[in-house]
Amino acid sequence: MPAPKGYSSMQIGLHWLIAVLIALQFLFNEPIGDAFRQIEQGGVPGFSLLVWGHIAGGIAILLLVLWRVSLRLGRGAPDSPAGTPPLLHMGAAAGHLALYALMLLLPVSGLVAWFGGIGAAGEAHEVMTNLLLAVVGLHVVAALYHQLIRKDHLLLRMMRPGA
Ligand code: HEM
Ligand code: HEM
Repeated sequence: MPAPKGYSSMQIGLHWLIAVLIALQFLFNEPIGDAFRQIEQGGVPGFSLLVWGHIAGGIAILLLVLWRVSLRLGRGAPDSPAGTPPLLHMGAAAGHLALYALMLLLPVSGLVAWFGGIGAAGEAHEVMTNLLLAVVGLHVVAALYHQLIRKDHLLLRMMRPGA
């Protein structure tokens, strides 16, 4: 199957919607952390909209990422911009794979921790949130490097749909 020239509008929409939802998960995580510790110590936390917001947001992310992965497998993604050194190309492929893996494993580990009452899954969830932060940081630096230094208009690929 030949690589498409760009991402579809659905792939682009999902990329930015999921990025915003992930930012919200980072912003609103304290109440669920407190509630989880309370449960681990044998307590029963009261109802909190922010706790259920974190759970609902995480489930929404999981479903949207599954949709996105199916689009990615069906339609593919454009090749790296012409002239991208092979090492950068491989780095981007590995980085994108890591982002997809973390976007799937994070909600799954959260669900296992909360509904299964498994502390180790909660710890894995915390570790993976830090990993996600680091990989997204590299991802943004790479996007800016392409845009500002290589000047190959990479950012436009995640803004304007291409056939
Ligand atoms: C992609 C989706 C998600 C992201 C980005 C995310 C992000 C976070 C972050 C940043 C924390 C704080 C970690 C820390 O204290 O260092 C956290 C804690 C937590 N989240 Fe999520 N979360 C997601 C999905 C979920 C889901 C679906 C659940 C299911 C109930 C969940 C349950 C929890 C729990 C129980 C904690 C407390 C863990 C602990 O303190 O050991 N999360 N999450
Ligand atoms: C939580 C935040 C983010 C996540 C999880 C994320 C994830 C991803 C993933 C998995 C891809 C690969 C798409 C594919 O080939 O299937 C991608 C592509 C891309 N992202 Fe992000 N992204 C995030 C934030 C951002 C931000 C803030 C920017 C802008 C600075 C950005 C710019 C791009 C660009 C330009 C591409 C296309 C790269 C290419 O065509 O080689 N992303 N993103």
